[in-house]
Amino acid sequence: MRTAVVVSGGDAPGINALVANFVRMATGDGHEILGAEGGFPGLMDGQMVTLDYRRLIPWVGQGGSMLPSSRDPVLKDTEAQQRIREVLKQWKVDNILLFGGNGTLRHIPPLLQEWGISSIGIPTTIDNDVPGSERSLGFDSACNFAYHAIGGALATAHALVGRIFLVETLGGVCGNLALAVAHGAGAHSVLLPEYAYADDWLAERTRKAVEQFGHALIVICEGARGARTLADDLAKLTGIRVRDVRLGHAQRGGVPSHVDRVLAADFAYAAYTHLKDGLPGGALVVQGGEVRLLTGLLPQQTVIPDKALYDRINGSII
Ligand code: F6P
Repeated sequence: MRTAVVVSGGDAPGINALVANFVRMATGDGHEILGAEGGFPGLMDGQMVTLDYRRLIPWVGQGGSMLPSSRDPVLKDTEAQQRIREVLKQWKVDNILLFGGNGTLRHIPPLLQEWGISSIGIPTTIDNDVPGSERSLGFDSACNFAYHAIGGALATAHALVGRIFLVETLGGVCGNLALAVAHGAGAHSVLLPEYAYADDWLAERTRKAVEQFGHALIVICEGARGARTLADDLAKLTGIRVRDVRLGHAQRGGVPSHVDRVLAADFAYAAYTHLKDGLPGGALVVQGGEVRLLTGLLPQQTVIPDKALYDRINGSII
């Protein structure tokens, strides 16, 4: 068996651990595993390397992806498609281990199937917005990264009272990551792109939190509103110092957590056993806490953050 590993879209902590696990099992059984450098555009240009487990070992505990990815949607172009098919043929690729988020997992496997190439998609995004999967690889690590930063902010909030901390997570237009972080960190408020809020309500709530607890912690998803402008407005509305912490891409490239490393190992095992047995491809998902293979297309819905949890965090806890 010859498998090509392709990483498409945003990287996520745990990709390296998964690739290393997969390569160890596959090469141990005598199969050959290739890696595309630079996602599908890299593959199109024939930028393929043979993956050797020993060389992957130093990457296992690292965030990011040792195989560079790409967001360039080359597969939309028919000439590029033709070129990619040729490269896959030239390298005698039997199947593809595909890493990506929602868009990648929805659009690319049907195309590969049309070309007679089976693929196993792995939901990899810190945003946790892949429909049909309770969890995507990297999400837990991104939450842990945020807790680390918030822990620092809260330590200084305790030492020097009277401030509002506004922590901005990544997540794009999906609030799942910010909601999970707010939940775990015990934030006084959470602001998400999916649900509207009024500045006056936020000002009143944070002012009360500072009065009662000495500080306020607000977690905001980057897609809700820029943390910097909100910090300025909130300072004016409350008369209290607001300090904004933008986690940015440091959050995406953070260290893979235990939970993500275990998920990476389980995804790798499921992907390898399916591909080696020549079973039909699909996407691996987590359902009921278990890794399962979803054959056919991913559900066509947009993942919406849990409204009951959102209301609970923003409710009458103060
Ligand atoms: O991959 C998901 C994600 O990290 C989002 O959380 C974020 O909004 C986006 O990617 C950032 O994309 P880029 O790295 O292209 O700036």
